[in-house]
This record gives sequence, structure tokens and C-alpha cells, in this order.
Amino acid sequence: MTESDRSAGWAAYYQQLRDRPPRKTVLAALDAFGDPPPDALVIDLGCGDGRDVIEELRRGWRVVAVDAEPEALRQLQARPLPDGCDVTPVNARLEEVPIPLGVHLVNSSFAMPLCAPEAFRQTWERIREALPSGGRFSGQWYGPRDSWAGRPGMTFLSRDEALGLLQGLDLELFEEEEADGVTPRGNAKHWHIFHIVARKP
Ligand SMILES: C[S@@+](CC[C@H](N)C(=O)[O-])C[C@H]1O[C@@H](n2cnc3c(N)ncnc32)[C@H](O)[C@@H]1O
Repeated sequence: MTESDRSAGWAAYYQQLRDRPPRKTVLAALDAFGDPPPDALVIDLGCGDGRDVIEELRRGWRVVAVDAEPEALRQLQARPLPDGCDVTPVNARLEEVPIPLGVHLVNSSFAMPLCAPEAFRQTWERIREALPSGGRFSGQWYGPRDSWAGRPGMTFLSRDEALGLLQGLDLELFEEEEADGVTPRGNAKHWHIFHIVARKP
């Protein structure tokens, strides 16, 4: 697939999922904070056109919104954003972007598995280190029975491997989902997903 095919594919994806509600994982993480901490800061890795970012901003969080596709950030900035909100769009790969100092929440919905295994593990280590005590990670990882398992440049983890990487964190939500469905692009797919909210003690 060429780069422009991939960009066109993501643009169609953003269009198709426009106006879907925020992911349950980011909602659970934001709810778990209660009132946002002072200077509440979230980095959203692979934010797309802002499905979760809009909710983060609506709740008064400052957001660093990271996506490898310029079109994602263009569409995010074209959306009606809450008055006075503080969002910093960053066009970068999530495995390369620095996690900012002072972050309270790292949210990555359906994006981390789009990294190769070595980059995934290094990114996860950086996330764990960057989170302060009381900080949280929310997002999705993919399991080995997912139809896309084996695709190059992606990461799939067994339940035990996922739990191993999360060891030492308080698991506030860990749901394994397996279902036959259809991708937003209309292709049949077996989903094997771990939905995660984890808090650093
Ligand atoms: C499946 S979409 C999810 C978008 C959004 N988080 C959501 O839940 O709707 C994955 C997003 O991650 C972005 N992406 C894929 N690989 C990436 C990478 N290595 N670094 C940064 N963004 C990436 C894509 O451009 C796309 O916008």
C-alpha cells in the first residue's frame, strides 16, 4: 500500500466514524479522576480526528493530540472545539513522540497495536515511566485471535502477555472482547481486543 493510499484510507475512516461517542476506556479513565487534577494533561496517541480528544477537552483537560496522519489533525482542528480549550496537535508517530512532563493520562484508543512489537514495547515502557503516581493509561491492545494477527508492523499480545506488561499497575478495567464483526471500511473481521484502564500506584 502506498502512503497516499493509506492516507486516503484513514480519511475515509474518520469520515465514516464521525460523531461516534468517545471510547468507553477514555470515559472510564476520565471518570476515575473525578474532578480533573490541577493542570490536568492528557496525551492522546493516535487520536484520529478527535473522537476522544473532544471529550477530554470538554472536561477541561489540556490535550496533546498526536497522530501520524496530517489529515487526522486537520479534521480535528476543523471540528467545533469547546471555547477556550487547550489542544496541541502533534504530527508524529506515537513510538517517537516524547511523553510530556506533567502528564496525568495517556490515552491511546485502537492505535498502539499499529506499531511493530519492538516499538510497541519501548513505547509502553516510556508510558509507564512517564506516568506519575496516580496517573492512568487507557486504550486498546489486540489479541492473537484477531483476524489481523500476523500483519507486519502490528502487535498482538496473548492475555498473559498483556497482563504481564500491566503488572504493577492497578487494573481498573480489563475486558477481553472477541466478536465477529465488520470493520468501519466494510470488511468482515474477527475482533480480539483488550480494553484497558490502568492506574500507576
Ligand atoms: C483506528 S484509528 C483510531 C483513532 C481514534 N483513537 C479512535 O479511537 O477513533 C488509529 C489512528 O492511529 C493513527 N496511527 C496509526 N499508526 C500510528 C503511529 N505509529 N503513530 C501515530 N499515529 C498512528 C492513524 O493515523 C489513525 O488516526
